[in-house]
Amino acid sequence: MTEPDPLFVSLRPRFFDGQGIFLSLLFDECQSPSFLRKQESKSCSHLGFVCRLIIVVAFSVRCCYSAPPFNECPGICPMRQPLVAGNWKMNGSRDSINHLLDGILAGIGSVKKSEVAVCVPYVYLQQVCDRLTGTAVAWGAQNINDHDSGAYTGEISGSMLKDFGCRYVIVGHSERRTLYGESEQDVAVRFKAALAHGLVPVLCVGELLQERDRGMTNEVVTRQLDAVIEDVGIDAIGRCVIAYEPVWAIGTGKVATPMQAQEVHAMIRARLAGLSEDVAARVRILYGGSMKPANAGELIRMDDIDGGLIGGASLKAKDFLEICAAAG
Ligand code: 13P
Repeated sequence: MTEPDPLFVSLRPRFFDGQGIFLSLLFDECQSPSFLRKQESKSCSHLGFVCRLIIVVAFSVRCCYSAPPFNECPGICPMRQPLVAGNWKMNGSRDSINHLLDGILAGIGSVKKSEVAVCVPYVYLQQVCDRLTGTAVAWGAQNINDHDSGAYTGEISGSMLKDFGCRYVIVGHSERRTLYGESEQDVAVRFKAALAHGLVPVLCVGELLQERDRGMTNEVVTRQLDAVIEDVGIDAIGRCVIAYEPVWAIGTGKVATPMQAQEVHAMIRARLAGLSEDVAARVRILYGGSMKPANAGELIRMDDIDGGLIGGASLKAKDFLEICAAAG
């Protein structure tokens, strides 16, 4: 886990000691005997007050724009930090991944606001862990088995993913649902396993083209979401990331318009708000499906779109970084 920012650690007690402490940081000194003595001697300027004002403003700004866990502290800043996550799918080789990571690491310094992650094929987790430890880029896997160990040939458990430093794991990607027959129940148990191992599940939901054409988008997405909520409860949803990925937009070059995507994102958030306003306000909902540098900005600027889950464009460092930059 990321170490808390030292500035935050040193100031945290002052923020959590009770209401009014924040303001007293500004005003207490002005009431203190030493201040009053100085007033009497006319030697006091307002410098102390101004310095404190600057510290408070600087701290607030830093709180809003720094990486988790700093901005996950309840009550400090409810803003959702954008997340741009690459899903490399079944792509790459040792060499191509080294090259891709060189490019991402060379440009990551210019990504100021967004959190950045890559979800990689299992066999490259060691390589990615070696290259990304201590950098601003997190990593994860593309699936997880719900069992912790045992006779499950070809499967990978949550504890194995933790062993390689994963923060994220994708669950319920449409390619898993459609090509490998993962049911809603399978997705729910994988989601639960991820949380049990301290991983952040990236729960993918989205409709097929024929479902959209029949006006069934909301029904399908709600069903996929509810299958998980019923199993894990709404509070667990507050510990995940949701990705809306219309299946017809994945790898097709056919992107949802910002309005089409926003409508579904808003519907998801409203559904969550019906169960918990707090979870709905906190949870990040990413868009996925042919997101590219050319369309990322206008998608991510929509109110309920908090970043992207990127397939093809995450395999080119330049494109991926441009999408990260578009997210802030
Ligand atoms: P593309 O960006 O290649 O359309 O893939 C999106 C996706 O499936 C991410 O999980």
